[in-house]
Amino acid sequence: MKRNKIALIGGGQIGGVLVQLIAQKQLGDVVLYDIVEDLPQGKTLDIVEASRVDQFDVNIKGTNDYEDIEGSDLVIITAGLPRKPGMSRDDLLTTNAKIMKTVAENVKQYAPNSIVIVISNPLDAMVTLFQKVSGFPFNRVIGQAGVLDSSRFSTFIAWELGVSVKDVNAMVLGGHGDTMVPIVRYANVNGIPALELLERKYNDKTKAKEVMDAMVNRTKLAGGEVVKLLKTGSAFYSPASSAIAMAEAIIYDEKRVLPVCAYLKGEFGINGYYVGVPAVLGANGIEKVIEFALNAEEQTALNNSVAAVKELVEAMAKLGF
Ligand code: APR
Repeated sequence: MKRNKIALIGGGQIGGVLVQLIAQKQLGDVVLYDIVEDLPQGKTLDIVEASRVDQFDVNIKGTNDYEDIEGSDLVIITAGLPRKPGMSRDDLLTTNAKIMKTVAENVKQYAPNSIVIVISNPLDAMVTLFQKVSGFPFNRVIGQAGVLDSSRFSTFIAWELGVSVKDVNAMVLGGHGDTMVPIVRYANVNGIPALELLERKYNDKTKAKEVMDAMVNRTKLAGGEVVKLLKTGSAFYSPASSAIAMAEAIIYDEKRVLPVCAYLKGEFGINGYYVGVPAVLGANGIEKVIEFALNAEEQTALNNSVAAVKELVEAMAKLGF
């Protein structure tokens, strides 16, 4: 049987980790594209030279030529600048929109049937632009944000409660910016409400709420926390792992329910925007957006987040994209 072909556009920090994870999990043959000469060739050579040790035999190629991505089944895009300390994701808009436009034109030309996962920031705007330029159906253009934001939220809850993160389920919806919406009401440890466990831990409802609020805020600002520490760029291990979870759901047709950046046509009262919501991911990309009832506070927070996404998309349109 023919192996999957996976194209990675952007061979920087996230791109490199993506190659390594795909190789180690043998998800398919990989083509790593970057605009910088020799960079993708160097990274892939380095990774391939560990193939004996890691026991993988997929084909891995680094390239500066878009023709090499021809016929890819899956494309993961990280091309674009990352944040530096003091920058918001939105500050990247102008530079990364230019890059994303070129990327979309080339993916459209060389991999017209691919499913595409966008990671580049500002995420919601970049996914919107990719879809607009490529004209790909909405189910085949997906943004990675919610899987990582939810993983961050789950990690903080696990630390706080002293339990395995494997048993924590916590979901973050909305745009991939400071207005994102961690859903506290459904955060749980193997089905037990996380807030109740906090109340039992502190024997104090007010204190429990304060601790939860602090975790919610840390989640919203978690990307910036890493940027501040790294100083020269932004998170790369966790975004790569999160995109790989999405890639596996698609490659193995798992029908996983993951929070992803999906185009909404009325779900959650939102029409015509890419926003983070739970969706079924399978062989056709986004197979279904999963709706559930939000309470008034959550809906207001989601609307607020969508307003931020709209603002960004409008700013992008004003720039001519
Ligand atoms: N085409 C392809 N690649 C490009 C282009 C282009 N037009 N312009 C820049 N690149 C490449 C850079 O050469 C670099 O190797 O994109 C890569 C980006 O890598 P890093 O700078 O290391 O950034 P990374 O940490 O991987 O993040 C990439 O994902 O999470 C987001 O905010 C982050 O937008 C950023 C993106």
